[in-house]
Amino acid sequence: MSLRLGDKAPNFQAKTSAGDIDFYEYLGDSWGVLFSHPGDYTPVCTTELGKTAALKDEFAKRNVKVLALSVDSVESHHGWIGDINETQGVEVNFPIIADEDRKISEAYDMIHPNASVNATVRSLFIIGPDKAVKLIITYPASTGRNFQEILRVIDSLQLTANYGVATPADWKDGEDVVVVPAIKTEDIPAKFPKGYKAIKPYLRITPQPNK
Ligand code: BEZ
Repeated sequence: MSLRLGDKAPNFQAKTSAGDIDFYEYLGDSWGVLFSHPGDYTPVCTTELGKTAALKDEFAKRNVKVLALSVDSVESHHGWIGDINETQGVEVNFPIIADEDRKISEAYDMIHPNASVNATVRSLFIIGPDKAVKLIITYPASTGRNFQEILRVIDSLQLTANYGVATPADWKDGEDVVVVPAIKTEDIPAKFPKGYKAIKPYLRITPQPNK
C-alpha cells in the first residue's frame, strides 16, 4: 500500500553519509524533504544534489531539513559527494541515506519495478512538523526536479498552515492568495486586515498575509 497525502510518514533508522540517524529525531519540529534518486555517480542526480546544497539557506529559512536517499552504500555516497562538491561548486550539507536493504524505499514506495527493479525513481515527499505527508511527487530518472518549485510548494503549505490561505495557479511568493472555503466571508475582515476581494462567493482573494 503506497503512502498518500495526510498519511503519517513512516519513521526509520538509517545509515547516512552523515552517520546513523532516526528520521523523526533528525526532523525534530522541522518540516522535512525526503527525496530519492536513482543512483550515485549519475549525471542528473549530481546536479540535483548540487542544487539542493546550494539552496541550504532557503531550506533553513523555511525551517526545513533535507534528506536524500539511494540504494547505494555510505562509502559510495562519500566518494560521490566529493564529485558533487567539485563539479557543482557546493558543500553537500545534508545526509544521503544508504538504503542498501531497500527497507525505506519500500516503505515509501520509491521503487517502481516497471521503471527499474534495482533503483529508486525520483520520489519526493514534503513532511510537516506533525509528521504527516503533505506532498508527493514522482519524476522519471531522466528528468531532474525543479527545486524552486519545491520551495514554492513549501511556501504555499506553510501559508496554509499558518494563515488559512491557499495559493492559486502559478502563484509566486508575494502575490495575492485565496481565502480557504472553510472561512466564512463575514469572518474575512477580522482575519485578513489587509482587505479582500470577493470575485465570486467562493473565490475570495487577499494580499499575502505575511508580506
Ligand atoms: C541520472 O541521474 O543522471 C540518470 C539516471 C538514470 C537514467 C538517466 C539519468
